[in-house]
Amino acid sequence: MKKKALYIIGLLLIGFIGIKLFQYFTGPSEKYSDLKVIAHHFNGNGYVGSSTCMECHANIYDSHVLTAHFNTSAFTTLDNLKGSLKEGENTVNLMDSEIKLTTIDGKPFQHAKIKYGDNSVFDWSMDITIGSGLKGQSYLTDQPDGLFQLQASYYVPGDMWINSPNYTDRLSPLRPVNDKCLKCHVTFAQNPKEYPDSNRYDISKIVLGVDCEKCHGPAEKHVAFQRNNTGANGIDSSLVKLTSLSRQQRLDLCASCHSGLRNNQIQNPFKFLPGDTLSNFSKNYQSLRPSKTLDVHGNQYGLLISSKCFTASDQMDCITCHDPHKNQRNEPEYFNSKCLSCHKQDDMHCTLPSTKMGKNGSNCIQCHMPVISSKNMQVQLKKLKNTTPIGIRTHNIAIYPELLENEKLIE
Ligand code: HEC
Ligand code: HEC
Ligand code: HEC
Ligand code: HEC
Ligand code: HEC
Ligand code: HEC
Ligand code: HEC
Repeated sequence: MKKKALYIIGLLLIGFIGIKLFQYFTGPSEKYSDLKVIAHHFNGNGYVGSSTCMECHANIYDSHVLTAHFNTSAFTTLDNLKGSLKEGENTVNLMDSEIKLTTIDGKPFQHAKIKYGDNSVFDWSMDITIGSGLKGQSYLTDQPDGLFQLQASYYVPGDMWINSPNYTDRLSPLRPVNDKCLKCHVTFAQNPKEYPDSNRYDISKIVLGVDCEKCHGPAEKHVAFQRNNTGANGIDSSLVKLTSLSRQQRLDLCASCHSGLRNNQIQNPFKFLPGDTLSNFSKNYQSLRPSKTLDVHGNQYGLLISSKCFTASDQMDCITCHDPHKNQRNEPEYFNSKCLSCHKQDDMHCTLPSTKMGKNGSNCIQCHMPVISSKNMQVQLKKLKNTTPIGIRTHNIAIYPELLENEKLIE
């Protein structure tokens, strides 16, 4: 009997230890090791991607994935390709060649064929899509000698494949893509040590999209901390508090991508973190003469800071009007309510007589932040007839008397 009891106790003990061991390995520590770090910032902190934020910031996550920011870069798939691959709709004709948009083994490719001589052909895989597809998409190919921009792009207003901006009319050597191009369309990318300042990347370690961690910094430590302190009031200082930054610091975060190309780089742009000073990273000679040099890669920062609204108020920044977590396309009422938050007092009212206002009087932005067509894109598209040029909302908030002659506004 005794032996049997001992035997049972022994079994129970082994079972208990087994369960404990199982819990030990699969408990919170499993969650911890689940934390997949996509890449490390130069300071050692890990980028974990917005899907990690979903479990605790579900509302922000759900609206963020609908933004142009989130969708501005992605691995190319047949699903996120905006243009058609149908025969007859899938070619770009150049002087000496033809580029066909096609698939090989179910993957999107650009197939180029020279029209004379030995009719040589080239096949390039389309690996990364740049552009949310509001205006257009351009495609990058990952080759053994690095990342390159492909010659066929997609132009949304014309619903057509076009020769990529600034490429010649002939099949050209592919353009290497480095941080000067990626810095505004991805969250983080880094060259391998053996090839610094080059177009070589391990694309599985590129943090795609303008994601949460572009504006909040790498969040590995934040997630680890919050997962281990569920519900507790522990103090987590691993993220920069954007609300406590100065106006210039907040502006610099958005201006790192919204103040022109900033090609004169002083430091690797991917070292830039929220709170940093942008002028330590790049010079921008355009920012002081903005309205006339507005280009497709807009300069909202330069335009805004030259407006009276900005210079005459000390708190205005991009967040005054934009909710960084939401897609706010085509919500004029929302933006107009922002104008009225400052312009409600009698002395700051619109001085245009109501008789001249027309029925759209409450739509402040159509007269004071009009849509202006981008000159750069027009040059590129001169040859394509009947295509709407791309319009960009100017951020030079001002009085445009010439607009009153536009019947559509005042009818
Ligand atoms: C396990 C839950 C959890 C996960 C996962 C998580 N967070 Fe948080 N986060 C929190 C909690 C709780 C707070 C509030 C903490 C506080 O106020 O002290 C918070 C606060 C924040 C704040 C505000 C910080 C401030 O004080 O201004 C930001 C920004 C933030 N999280 C970003 C992220 C991002 C980005 C991710 C994904 C990479 C993420 N969080 C993932 C729980 C989480
Ligand atoms: C384009 C930049 C940008 C992106 C992308 C972004 N945020 Fe924010 N976030 C901000 C700014 C700016 C604030 C401060 C807003 C303010 O001052 O009211 C903020 C505030 C927050 C806060 C604290 C205040 C609040 O609203 O609860 C949390 C939490 C947060 N963000 C989480 C996230 C998460 C999670 C993602 C991705 C799913 C994300 N953010 C993406 C810029 C961004
Ligand atoms: C890493 C670069 C980067 C940063 C930082 C950044 N943006 Fe952007 N933003 C972009 C790019 C690229 C687009 C165009 C996306 C597209 O359509 O493909 C864009 C688009 C936008 C749009 C247009 C959205 C739409 O639906 O058309 C707004 C508004 C905007 N950004 C505001 C901000 C604000 C405010 C901040 C700062 C809190 C900010 N951005 C920070 C790169 C950035
Ligand atoms: C300095 C930041 C910056 C750089 C560098 C940059 N872009 Fe952009 N790009 C933007 C912004 C901001 C927008 C949104 C246009 C706007 O509204 O001002 C944009 C828009 C686009 C769009 C149209 C997206 C859409 O559908 O709205 C494409 C395509 C694009 N960029 C491709 C590229 C490629 C390819 C490169 C590199 C050769 C590049 N960009 C370099 C900031 C940048
Ligand atoms: C943060 C407060 C604030 C917001 C928000 C704001 N403004 Fe202003 N705005 C001002 C101030 C201050 C002035 C300067 C008034 C003066 O000098 O008498 C001004 C000036 C103007 C002027 C005169 C410009 C000129 O060149 O004479 C116009 C027009 C204007 N705002 C329109 C708008 C519109 C439209 C919006 C919304 C898109 C807007 N404002 C949002 C504060 C603001
Ligand atoms: C006074 C309000 C206001 C401020 C401040 C403001 N914006 Fe905007 N922004 C707007 C309005 C209005 C639109 C047009 C929205 C639409 O057309 O649906 C817009 C559109 C945009 C777009 C899309 C442009 C296009 O036509 O494709 C970008 C990018 C943008 N803003 C960036 C910024 C950045 C960056 C800052 C700070 C430097 C900023 N905005 C500050 C009101 C503002
Ligand atoms: C139909 C076009 C139109 C609309 C809509 C419009 N404005 Fe104006 N606004 C003008 C013109 C034109 C002037 C210059 C009038 C003049 O000659 O005094 C002006 C002047 C102003 C001024 C300068 C006042 C000053 O003291 O110099 C402000 C501020 C202003 N508008 C704000 C607004 C706001 C806010 C709204 C939306 C509620 C709005 N406007 C709607 C066309 C418009």
